[in-house]
Amino acid sequence: MELSPFAGSYLTDPAAVWRDLLNRPEEVHHADDLGMWLITRHEHVRQAFGDPESFGNALTLAPVYEMCPEALAVVMQLDVPATTAAADSPVHTRTRQALRATFANTAPRVSAQYGPIVRRRVDELVDGLVDRKGEVVDLIPEFAALLPLLVVVDILGVPDRDVARIRRWADGQIALIWGQPDPAEQVRLAQGLLEFWHYCQDLVARRVDGDLTGDDFISRALRYRDGDDSVLTPAEVASMAFNLLVAGHETTAGLLAHGLEQALSVPGRWRRMAEEPESVPAFLEESLRFGPAIDGWLRVTLRPVTIGGVTIPAGARCLLVIGAANRDPAMFAHPDNFDPDRRDAKDHLSFGYGPHFCIGAALARLEARIALVRLAETIPGLRLAPGHVSVYKPNVAFRAHRVLPAVINVSSVPRERYDDPPEAVPARAA
Ligand code: HEM
Repeated sequence: MELSPFAGSYLTDPAAVWRDLLNRPEEVHHADDLGMWLITRHEHVRQAFGDPESFGNALTLAPVYEMCPEALAVVMQLDVPATTAAADSPVHTRTRQALRATFANTAPRVSAQYGPIVRRRVDELVDGLVDRKGEVVDLIPEFAALLPLLVVVDILGVPDRDVARIRRWADGQIALIWGQPDPAEQVRLAQGLLEFWHYCQDLVARRVDGDLTGDDFISRALRYRDGDDSVLTPAEVASMAFNLLVAGHETTAGLLAHGLEQALSVPGRWRRMAEEPESVPAFLEESLRFGPAIDGWLRVTLRPVTIGGVTIPAGARCLLVIGAANRDPAMFAHPDNFDPDRRDAKDHLSFGYGPHFCIGAALARLEARIALVRLAETIPGLRLAPGHVSVYKPNVAFRAHRVLPAVINVSSVPRERYDDPPEAVPARAA
């Protein structure tokens, strides 16, 4: 079969493709167009995530298509050591331990260490939106994608002046690795990726030569290694920064976009955010299940593996189709219904499962909760622009909205008029 993830219905209604895969009698599929095995059932995706002896991570960050030789020549210059997401044991165990020691990853630690940063950045962005009342604003660049980036640069101790280029590099990396750009674009994006890596190396080099007492992630990681390369090398610290700057923002951007779209598309949901903020965590879990920001993640088989009655040979690339697993009727009742109060939504696989489980899950949940509640309280009349339809960027892994235009209406909407879209005005010229 062919998945065709870069065209057609995968870009507008991926759930229809997942449903089709789940309905087929065979349990594991081979996507001839990608040269990959597709694992779609909840039970199997969880099994693959949880079995690092059979499913390795070494190729997780390698392009999903055959890159042109010119782009490949640029990519070959990237001497990024594998850490966490791209590493298998023992490097994974060591680098993950370092990350857990230096990057807050439990709800109480995240709230204490990163809560003030998140609140400050949310306030800044929400105030900016309020200033644009009456306009149609694209919430992707102006809120959903920007907030997580501003938070992660603060955590890493990166200056605000670099935000625009980090955003460009990170978007480029995602398109280069998990998209299908044409050859000229591949070369341009590969050059951007190399610049991005040099930038991260510089961030670390400047700390190594200067003051290490800061509270930022890079200073913490360098203090943690304490000059001992067997604990962590400076290049590994740069590699972690390189990964966190992308993993820390493109993903949470997706959660915010999917959450906003769901909250704004059904009458009453937006008002409930402000009136019952305690309902938001459950709403966010259902958003994660229903529209995962990463809906396919890669593994490579380290030995022949039999799963769902199919034997996958050693050395084969596998796409764990998280989006499909989250809609598996064997796991979730009425999986294609978005139910903000679903009790078992937390069983989704959107943050992975097992030894590589997402380090940033608690941060993403905190950011999204604070952002949605504050937005709903401050802009109670926020509405999707009339005629909006979801279209996603062509990508095998990251399910990113192209746009999410919304009308900034700061006055509250009377309950009985909740269905009526307010008068839209044209977007402000850039
Ligand atoms: C909604 C937001 C997010 C989603 C959906 C998400 C999803 C994922 C997924 C699917 C994995 C792979 C798990 C596996 O391979 O088993 C992962 C790993 C990872 N994520 Fe996230 N992520 C999110 C936010 C974040 C944030 C905010 C950060 C950090 C600032 C982060 C950092 C990482 C890291 C470092 C790993 C690698 C962990 C390892 O290999 O040990 N993620 N994430």
